[in-house]
Amino acid sequence: MAMGGFKHFIFRFLGGLALILLVHAQDQSGFISIDCGLPANSSYSEETTTGINYISDATFIHTGVSQSISPELKGTKQHQVWNLRSFPQGIRNCYSINITGGIKYLIRATFLYGNYDGKSNFPEFDLYLGANMWDTIKLENASISVIKELIHIPSSSYMHICLANTGRGTPFISAIEFRPLKNTSYVTTSGSLALISRADVGSISNRSYRYPYDVYDRLWLPYNFYQWKDLSTSLTIDSQSHNYYQPPSVVMSTASTPINDSAPMQLYWEGDDPTTQYYIYMHFAEVVKLQPNQSRSFNITINGKPWYGPLVPDYLYTTSVFSTSAMSGGKYVISLFKTESSTLPPIINAFELYSVKDLSQSETAQDDVDAIRKIKSAYGIARDWQGDPCAPKAYTWEGLNCSYNGANPPRITSLDLSSSGLTGEISADISHLLMLQYLDLSNNSLSGLVPDFLVQLPYLRVLNLERNQLTGSVPLQLIERSKNGSLSLSVGENLNLCGSASCKKKNKVVVPIVASVGGLLIVSLIVVALLWGLKRRRTQPIAMEDTESSMPNMSFEAIQRQFTYAELLKMTNNFERILGKGGFGTVFHGYVDGTQVAVKMLSPSSVQGYQQFQSEARTSMGLIYEYMANGDLDAHLSDENSNIALPWKDRMRIAADAAQGLEYLHHGCKPPIIHRDVKCTNILLNENFQAKLADFGLSKIFPTDSGTHVSTVVAGTPGFLDPEYCISNCLTEKSDVYSFGVVLLEIISNRPAIERSEERTHISQWASSMLAKGDIKNIVDPRLPGNFNINSVWKAVEIAMACVALTAARRPTMSQVVAELKECLEIELAQTKEGHEGESADSIEMMSVNLNTELNPLARVLIVVGSTCL
Ligand SMILES: *[C@@H]1O[C@H](CO)[C@@H](O)[C@H](O)[C@H]1NC(C)=O
Ligand SMILES: *[C@@H]1O[C@H](CO)[C@@H](O)[C@H](O)[C@H]1NC(C)=O
Ligand SMILES: *[C@@H]1O[C@H](CO)[C@@H](O)[C@H](O)[C@H]1NC(C)=O
Ligand SMILES: *[C@@H]1O[C@H](CO)[C@@H](O)[C@H](O)[C@H]1NC(C)=O
Ligand SMILES: *[C@@H]1O[C@H](CO)[C@@H](O)[C@H](O)[C@H]1NC(C)=O
Ligand SMILES: *[C@@H]1O[C@H](CO)[C@@H](O)[C@H](O)[C@H]1NC(C)=O
Ligand SMILES: *[C@@H]1O[C@H](CO)[C@@H](O)[C@H](O)[C@H]1NC(C)=O
Ligand SMILES: *[C@@H]1O[C@H](CO)[C@@H](O)[C@H](O)[C@H]1NC(C)=O
Ligand SMILES: *[C@@H]1O[C@H](CO)[C@@H](O)[C@H](O)[C@H]1NC(C)=O
Ligand SMILES: *[C@@H]1O[C@H](CO)[C@@H](O)[C@H](O)[C@H]1NC(C)=O
Ligand SMILES: *[C@@H]1O[C@H](CO)[C@@H](O)[C@H](O)[C@H]1NC(C)=O
Repeated sequence: MAMGGFKHFIFRFLGGLALILLVHAQDQSGFISIDCGLPANSSYSEETTTGINYISDATFIHTGVSQSISPELKGTKQHQVWNLRSFPQGIRNCYSINITGGIKYLIRATFLYGNYDGKSNFPEFDLYLGANMWDTIKLENASISVIKELIHIPSSSYMHICLANTGRGTPFISAIEFRPLKNTSYVTTSGSLALISRADVGSISNRSYRYPYDVYDRLWLPYNFYQWKDLSTSLTIDSQSHNYYQPPSVVMSTASTPINDSAPMQLYWEGDDPTTQYYIYMHFAEVVKLQPNQSRSFNITINGKPWYGPLVPDYLYTTSVFSTSAMSGGKYVISLFKTESSTLPPIINAFELYSVKDLSQSETAQDDVDAIRKIKSAYGIARDWQGDPCAPKAYTWEGLNCSYNGANPPRITSLDLSSSGLTGEISADISHLLMLQYLDLSNNSLSGLVPDFLVQLPYLRVLNLERNQLTGSVPLQLIERSKNGSLSLSVGENLNLCGSASCKKKNKVVVPIVASVGGLLIVSLIVVALLWGLKRRRTQPIAMEDTESSMPNMSFEAIQRQFTYAELLKMTNNFERILGKGGFGTVFHGYVDGTQVAVKMLSPSSVQGYQQFQSEARTSMGLIYEYMANGDLDAHLSDENSNIALPWKDRMRIAADAAQGLEYLHHGCKPPIIHRDVKCTNILLNENFQAKLADFGLSKIFPTDSGTHVSTVVAGTPGFLDPEYCISNCLTEKSDVYSFGVVLLEIISNRPAIERSEERTHISQWASSMLAKGDIKNIVDPRLPGNFNINSVWKAVEIAMACVALTAARRPTMSQVVAELKECLEIELAQTKEGHEGESADSIEMMSVNLNTELNPLARVLIVVGSTCL
């Protein structure tokens, strides 16, 4: 830019250390004054000149290196440029500074090279404010500061100031300053303002002025032109009042006037870019006490066209004349010339010239920024992720792609964190990246379940979870989307993850339908949730894919149905057939849509003490179960009338089924569901003698208050209860493992958990005394047909004994138990296959298929207990 009539285009601190008598401490409120490169936690007051308090930049940035300018330069410079922070590493380094959004700021960045690296190599690099290019910084003299100033209204409560290495030397920065301004000043029709020049015209001190002379800490540089002469006053300007530009008195007390009385005063400039727009602000005050026969009056023209006038400056008071809309076009001549009646030539005391800067490009949408920052900190991601994730586009964070749509905030559309050493679970913050289309988390050590919230990412097209340690099953909706081609899903090479809908075959757990008879189901659900202070996780049921189960026509989507009492009567044929009596009430046989069900009517006593429950539900509560034709396991084991005891193979299969049901509650639900009452009466058998676990979690939902039903009190059942169980309800999954061990011993031996004798010996003590004698044969149920594999028995007993270990830590997990029981069964099946030609290979195959693929989708009951199961 060529500017005639302007002496200084690079701002300098001239005579920077001249001692100034500081006016008593003035308000620096709202000032943010950062000395870049100052050691962390230090601060100082720039006492010799401004009195401004500077703080270290260490809390605003985590990269870069502290440096100092060469010592001989320090004496002539203000303290805040003695240190600097340089950025030898990284393409872009960013400060993140908390500010007040929505107010107008003067933002200043200062760069003094000072030959800090001893190389006398002047760098050039780019400076960004948020998503917008601010300027290119070009250093040309080690002892001259380059200063960039903006007047800008940031919209958010933080500001990124970034330095980008463009291959022409190491970026650095010396100081960053924010000064709040009045929003009524420096108003533009659009855009922000970048300072070109701010002049203290007719200065007689040869020095620059800033705070505390200027309450806004603008920097005024002396300006003297050889065709002009200086005028000044020792009196205070604006002593009683001031306009909202409030130029400092010391600046306004000097002015220039042309040497040639009849000549106009002219300012002219020409921009490099004809599209650049400008705003000019001129400040006038009469500094000469005029005689009655004197007058000073002048007109202002721009490029020869009248702009303002006649102007008669007030004596010792400031008049500011400025553009209210941008001046555009290449070349400008501003002329001040006296009117016909004026006896004196024009004067000017100060002016400011700015160009318009479009800083409207937004940073990334706040929700996305918050989410990605949390993801970054949750996983401790070590990448060079600084500043804004998506903006400017050229500096998008590695591993992200974003969408850009004009001035709208960019959105994160793809996230690639593959091979990034991630551990822990899949972060829920990912679900807040709502525009995500592509998510790659492969080749990490992520564990836990594949969370349901991935389903809520509406635009997800690619999901790669390969090579992790994920468990459980993939949410059904993802599987469906992958099947119909709307999602590319990769889940291979995980610890124990089932990635296809075929996992969702049969239940190893009987799912009760909770229905409040005569009331709304939703009411009962909410009531239960209230009772336990739990939040309902979801209202949308997971559809149960019960493709080939023992209840072919049973639509468990009917789970949201409410049944009236009349319907219930019809369903059970007036409660005709009693299937059994349990802790919660009587169980009746019934039909729903032609499918057999078990209807458990909760007895009033089972819910006593829960007044909320009663008052809300008012009427009876019922649970509707899948009907299990063969009743419970206990009945089969202890049926002394039966001549045919359950064969070993069936026992192992039932044990494995039940173990899988339990494993599912422990590892397929989040938080895990602890059954709390694992025992043979809670293992139900269907017409094919497939076992399912019942009454899980119910002891928690519907605790009984009476001691009469020992079998179902919260505390569990004597003999099955974890000896480590403590009063404060601290049951864990390992408590269920203990109970399962007892069940397994019962299955093996057909003895009660606690001997019905004086000694009341526990089955585990009995078994270990038998084992001590090496007497495996006597542990096995004497009624068992003889043709079983003794190795299979040994293994089963070992598993059971491990489960009943006194300390929970030494017990296996249900996953381990399932794996071991499968081996037991395989050993036995191998023998059966050899020995019994009659049994088809088919049934064996089917069985192993079941064992390998079955996982159970559970629905609403798990919502009730506050767990989500996959
Ligand atoms: C700065 O202060 C914080 C907290 O007071 C402290 O943890 C940190 O170590 C300090 N840093 C330095 C460089 O003194
Ligand atoms: C900036 O603000 C955020 C959110 O208000 C806060 O968490 C952070 O600590 C602040 N940073 C500094 C350096 O004050
Ligand atoms: C840098 O500026 C100083 C002071 O204005 C001047 O004396 C010196 O000659 C300049 N150096 C160069 C290399 O231009
Ligand atoms: C300045 O701010 C006030 C309130 O803070 C607001 O009412 C006014 O409209 C703003 N003026 C301008 C020009 O932005
Ligand atoms: C101001 O500086 C110029 C050179 O930079 C010098 O010629 C002049 O005498 C100085 N004026 C005052 C008042 O110090
Ligand atoms: C003073 O200015 C007038 C008007 O520009 C011009 O005509 C005249 O020649 C100038 N006088 C001198 C001495 O430069
Ligand atoms: C104005 O008045 C003063 C005396 O007050 C006189 O000296 C001067 O010449 C007059 N100037 C003009 C232009 O009349
Ligand atoms: C100054 O401006 C006024 C009003 O715009 C106009 O009447 C007058 O003629 C102008 N004077 C000169 C010398 O241009
Ligand atoms: C992200 O953008 C880059 C460059 O446009 C492209 O090469 C890459 O495939 C994109 N990645 C994804 C996951 O879309
Ligand atoms: C998986 O990540 C490891 C480091 O975590 C890396 O060494 C390996 O090359 C990656 N494998 C693939 C196939 O990307
Ligand atoms: C694919 O299935 C999902 C979930 O069932 C559904 O929302 C989506 O509209 C389907 N897309 C297509 C292309 O059929």
